[in-house]
Formats: sequence, structure tokens, C-alpha cells
Amino acid sequence: MRKKANIVVIGTGGTIAGRGETASNTSAYACSVLTIDRILAAIPEVSSLANLRAEQLMQTGSENFNNEHLLKIGKRVSEVLKDNDVDGVIVTHGTDTIEETAYFLHLTLKSVKPVVVVGSMRPPSAMSSDASLNLYDAIAVAIAPASRGKGTLVVANNEIHTARDVMKTNSFKLEAFRSPYGALGYVAEGEPRYYRMPSRDHTVLTEWSIDRIEILPKVDIVYAYGALGEEVIGTVASEANGLIYAGTGNGNVAEHIVGPLVAATRQGLHVVRASRTGNGVVIRNGTQPDDDYGWIVVDDQAPQKARILLMLAMLSNPDKRCALQAAFYRY
Ligand code: DGL
Repeated sequence: MRKKANIVVIGTGGTIAGRGETASNTSAYACSVLTIDRILAAIPEVSSLANLRAEQLMQTGSENFNNEHLLKIGKRVSEVLKDNDVDGVIVTHGTDTIEETAYFLHLTLKSVKPVVVVGSMRPPSAMSSDASLNLYDAIAVAIAPASRGKGTLVVANNEIHTARDVMKTNSFKLEAFRSPYGALGYVAEGEPRYYRMPSRDHTVLTEWSIDRIEILPKVDIVYAYGALGEEVIGTVASEANGLIYAGTGNGNVAEHIVGPLVAATRQGLHVVRASRTGNGVVIRNGTQPDDDYGWIVVDDQAPQKARILLMLAMLSNPDKRCALQAAFYRY
């Protein structure tokens, strides 16, 4: 019989650590109240899968997570992965921004060991909660040799997603997580089954190591609509080093916004054209002359994940826009 794997489960809060007043409170409940020890104690089945060690790193909703939270999680996961006795790491996390933390880990951890980020849409106290099964499945994925070298994974609703692609696409349904090109695989009866591989560079193949990142540049997101005031661009430019412009459709920019955005770009702000549709490719020099304006396009990345990538790309290339553009086509 194979030796049981040693898995560290790091708790950070979220609905998976939530509790409702009654079992019918599937959407209204207190978040981030159960400790990671209590969450695990409620799933006795997990002890047959792996030797588990639990750690409470934080206890807060992921809507609060800023760059310091990202760095804190990344550095702790990296430290734990360096222990030769540890075979994999699970991070329990609120689902609101799980995709951003997971993508940050995917790009900055330097290990082939499985790292799985998991949350739930319903608290453990609710009817038909997904908390126990999601965590059980996450452990099943973390112990599987087939999960090594695939970067950071997000497990939800019996599916395994790559951190690069996954997004929360529904505010309350169990079936909330989608990857535009489909999940990498399923978890069935505690067995991961993979059908696809991540195709873009991650973890050991990237230029960033979390161990060497102390601060991240400020990148903001502006959500486009026709009545957007042009003063918003100036306000962002005065504070931030980068701006993800979540444009309409194919990264379209309203006529009255073009001037202020170009002016801010000339003064050093890095502007990335993305799409508020959250899907599809933004074509370089398509609806806007990006070469002339010094703008970058997002390829197919969602604005909230483009923000993570731009922050990292600016660490390596604070000034070279062609290198920033290349990062969007590589990762
Ligand atoms: N407070 C939200 C968060 O931590 C709850 C959402 C969830 O975990 O499903 O992201």
C-alpha cells in the first residue's frame, strides 16, 4: 500500500468557514467564523486520504484581500512547500476572489508539488452544502501524483480547474466556477481524472519567485460604460502605476476617454485594454491603434486576473511596454 501523503491545509476564511442560523440559510450567513481545525473535524473521511496538518493563516472574507494578503499567502505556501516532508498544500479561501489568489500562486510559486485552492458556495451548516465535498475532493487532488507539475488548481463542484482560466461566474449557485475552455478534469469518488493540461507557462517556468517579492506595484481596474467621467482616468493615473481598462466588447474605449488615457500613458501609466465581457480575445491594433498609443492588450485574460499579471510583469519590466505585452501572450 502506498504511504499516505502529508498535506498542509491553510485556512484563510470565506464561506467554507461560515455558519448560518439555520440549515436553510444557504446565502445569508456569517462568513469566516469556523477555524480550519473545526472544518476538518467535521469531515472524518479525510483522515483516510492523507496525513493532514492544519494552519490558520487568516480568518477573513476574500473580498478584503489586497496585495499584502496575496504576499502573505504566497510566502507561507512557499515556505511550507520547501519542507521535504510536505507533499502538497491546500488553501481554503473565500470564493469571491479565489481566482486572483490562485493565479498569483500559479505565477509565483517555485514548486511542482500540488497546490489546491478551495472554497464553497454554501457554508457547512447549510442544506446541500458543497463545503465538505469540495474540501474532500481538494485533498484527493492534492495527494494525486497526476496533479504534480500542473500549477495551482482550483477544485469546486467535482471539477478541477487551472488557476489561469477559472472564474467565479455566478453569485450564489453551486455551479459557479467556469473555465472558458473547460475544466482540466473531474473528481469522482475521491479520484481525480485529468483530460487536459494547462498550456501557458506557470510556477517553475515563470520569471517570478514569491520569495523575492516584497511589494507589488499599484494597478487599478476601470470598468467602462459610455457615461464614464474622464476625470476617473486622471484620478487613477495620479495614484497607480498601471490600469486595466475593462472596455466594452473587444476592449473598446469611448471617444471621450481616448484622450485622457493616451495622455496618462505618455506620462508613464501602463494601460492594458481588456474586455468587461470577461471572455474572448482583445485584438491588438483592432479597435484602437495600440502601437501608436503605447497600450497593451490583455489577450484573453479577465480584468481581475490581468491586474495580477500586470503587477508581476511590471516587477520584471517597469518601463518596457513590449515586454509587458509579451507577458500577456506567454502566461
Ligand atoms: N465573503 C465571501 C468571500 O470570502 C464569501 C464568498 C464565498 O466564500 O463563497 O469570498
